[in-house]
Amino acid sequence: MPAPTSPSAAGLEGVVVGSSSICFIDGREGRLLYRGYDINDLVEHSTFEEVVFLLWHGRLPGKKELAEHERALAASRKLPGKVLALLKGFPHKATPTEVLRTTVSALALYDSDAENNSPEASVRKAMRLTGQLATIVAAWARIRAGKTPVAPNARLSAAANFLYMLHGKKPDPLWSKTFDIALVLHADHELNASTFSARVTASTLSDLHSAITSAVGTLKGPLHGGANEAVVRTLQEIGEPERAEVWIKNALAQKRRIMGFGHRVYKTEDPRAAHLRRMAEALGRQAGNLKWYEILRTIERVVREEKGLYPNVDLYSGTCYYAMGIPPDLYVPIFAVSRISGWTAHVLEQHADNRLIRPRADYLGPTRLRYVSIDERK
Ligand code: CMC
Repeated sequence: MPAPTSPSAAGLEGVVVGSSSICFIDGREGRLLYRGYDINDLVEHSTFEEVVFLLWHGRLPGKKELAEHERALAASRKLPGKVLALLKGFPHKATPTEVLRTTVSALALYDSDAENNSPEASVRKAMRLTGQLATIVAAWARIRAGKTPVAPNARLSAAANFLYMLHGKKPDPLWSKTFDIALVLHADHELNASTFSARVTASTLSDLHSAITSAVGTLKGPLHGGANEAVVRTLQEIGEPERAEVWIKNALAQKRRIMGFGHRVYKTEDPRAAHLRRMAEALGRQAGNLKWYEILRTIERVVREEKGLYPNVDLYSGTCYYAMGIPPDLYVPIFAVSRISGWTAHVLEQHADNRLIRPRADYLGPTRLRYVSIDERK
């Protein structure tokens, strides 16, 4: 496709393409709100389950409502037997994100509401997918390692249950708390690329599973979901805190893009980064190993001094996950385990007041070519 002629339209930067009441980002002040509530308050007082309710229903639940919602989410974690069998048949070299994208699509074939786009059916499907995504990711991590998948435990929170299904034992409380905070922080982010693609798919009046399959495919790219994995690879390469300053200065001199920095919307620190920095330090202290945390602090200082760039959500999340024994190629699917709540909220909002999303392109090609028969062509 030709590049748009107007520079402001490149990458749709700054272009408002619709309205939404789900999420607000103040890029100058570094504020992030879900349905009007500041992310800092939600991290301090809420849980992932409550945030899911907030995103879907636009308000905080009452006590009984929350308990019922938590029960329904926990009850929706099981995968149909045929989908589990499908997972077991995938080639072990398949990346976890490819497996997630394919399995989300396959789940539609076993969902009795698959083609039903009524608000009630879409909430039921959103509930099931929010439970099932975590199960797919944990099950695949074990299957590819030749281990038996661990069945979900309905008595555990979403965060604790994920770690339980992954490691096969109940997690340390600091790990569960950290993972819950990570889920809260990643739940929604306005019209990021994957949410936008979910809304584009939904706007054709296609179904929820199709919209989420589009979103997972969009999340897969390193400019969106994959940066935290790249940060961990960088940390592995640097190795020791004493090497960090020289390494990062060299990388900047070579004009390399530093993963975990910069953002299309935030012109200051991403508010999510501060929480993950704090959790990365706490996990490092717990393990008696602050090496990676110290390397990241040095990188942060140098990138700020030399490029004026601030950290984004991806700078510290990988370090947290790594400290909990999670392999780097699971970080993109883990993003989806949380973002499914925002994606589904956006699809519900799109369907509630739909108009087909169909923008125009600035055409740059010729317009009056004469058709030349194949014998006359050079
Ligand atoms: N390292 C080095 N330089 C950078 C970086 C970076 N991480 N980010 C931006 N820049 C520079 C870039 O080189 C350019 O400089 P110049 O004008 O001199 O050419 C300028 O800043 C603007 O960059 P851009 O690529 O036009 O900005 P964008 O808004 O299109 O890109 C971004 C935003 C997130 C893709 C980009 O900052 C980036 O590639 N960051 C690294 C990848 C990353 O951490 N991604 C996770 C984003 S947060 C999670 C999410 O929301 O999905």
